[in-house]
Amino acid sequence: MVKLVKTATEFELSPTLAANEMVKSRRAEGKKAYHMGFGESPFPVPERLKNALKSAVDRKEYLPTAGLPELCETVAAYYKDKAGLDISKFDVLVAPGSKLILYALQMAIEGDLLMPDPSWVSYKPQARMLKTAVIMVPTTLDEKGYHIDPEELRKVIKQARSEGKNPSKLILNYPSNPTGLTIQEDELKALAKVCVEEDILIISDEIYGFVSFDGVYRTIAQYAPTHTAITTGLSKHLSLGGWRVGVGFIPKAVDGLQSLLRNIASETWSCVPAPIQQAVIEAYKGHEDIEQHIQQCTDIHALMNKYIAKGLRSLDIHAPEPQGAFYNYPNFEKHRAALAKSGIKTSKDLAGALLKDYSLAALPGTAFGAEPEVLTLRLSGCDYDGQTALKAYQGGAALNEAFIEKYAPRVKESIETFERFIANISDKSKAA
Ligand SMILES: Cc1ncc(COP(=O)(O)O)c(C=O)c1O
Repeated sequence: MVKLVKTATEFELSPTLAANEMVKSRRAEGKKAYHMGFGESPFPVPERLKNALKSAVDRKEYLPTAGLPELCETVAAYYKDKAGLDISKFDVLVAPGSKLILYALQMAIEGDLLMPDPSWVSYKPQARMLKTAVIMVPTTLDEKGYHIDPEELRKVIKQARSEGKNPSKLILNYPSNPTGLTIQEDELKALAKVCVEEDILIISDEIYGFVSFDGVYRTIAQYAPTHTAITTGLSKHLSLGGWRVGVGFIPKAVDGLQSLLRNIASETWSCVPAPIQQAVIEAYKGHEDIEQHIQQCTDIHALMNKYIAKGLRSLDIHAPEPQGAFYNYPNFEKHRAALAKSGIKTSKDLAGALLKDYSLAALPGTAFGAEPEVLTLRLSGCDYDGQTALKAYQGGAALNEAFIEKYAPRVKESIETFERFIANISDKSKAA
């Protein structure tokens, strides 16, 4: 009998994809469903990029494993200009999605992974595939953002070392999936100091860096350029997930890292398709129309996700105002007693009840590393027609509640669904 490797059999279908499939099948049956489970930015491909791709179809050759040189140079100049990155300290790597750069980085750096709780769904499975141990780092969430106490981080590192573990790399993501929150500048600075002193490589996942509601691009690389590898790409601020364009900024100070990553690339994905690389040079030239498109999409993400947070807060659910990306990560702790009376004791129970009884797909906090009994969900605010919404905004429509009602009715109805859910839970609890 053909046997599967043990690590591979541990994986469920990625929870985001599972929620996606359930919503699809409900809608195929003509039933209503609210999709807060899948975080895909809904906006269309800008005309300039469509045209650039059309003109690049004749490119068919393999490209250098680090990326098309003209693209690498353009990307570097863009990040110098827009993110204030000292690009003289980094090499650029272009790959089919930042996910593969994250995987290659985990593969390339020996030792255990420090991972904040909560974190994006794929870091831990990637670590498991590579047989890397994961050490959790606690966080707190509030109106100021997503916090990791630097001294707590140092304590976790020292404790792990005293137990014979080898913490060597820390993944940070800001603005973050799942929280929609970011890490403030002074905190990035303090975390950078700890990582440099403890010789930890920071893998800085900045995929939402330009989906920042205050318009500030933050990077910890500014404070620890010798100890930071940045991953980013076009999947979020340009809604181009399916084009598979990931970009890495690899610190020159880590001797041999870029050449090891190039070797990994050459033995696996080889290169991002040539027409795509040629076309996306235009995404990094700073064209006014592209920059405007990014800003407009970010404005709409801010409207939707702040609206969701406000609606949840009015129901006594902990939901700090989002600062970036397209998510909320509410905590239902205040309703724990009432929820328990309906048999809801874990985040999986909570997501299950919403899906089964309210046709609302959300992801449980466990998918992001939270303990089962922590009553958190990740909600994504992308369930609307991005093309129509963007066109309306470009046409002068104001971004307010009427906009949501007209162009994102399911987002509004999702909040009404939560209102019904909380009311029903409370009624049941009182009746019991
Ligand atoms: C936090 C985070 N990092 C990385 C990725 C991977 O993006 P991509 O591989 O499309 O660049 C995602 C996509 O969902 C994400 O949410």
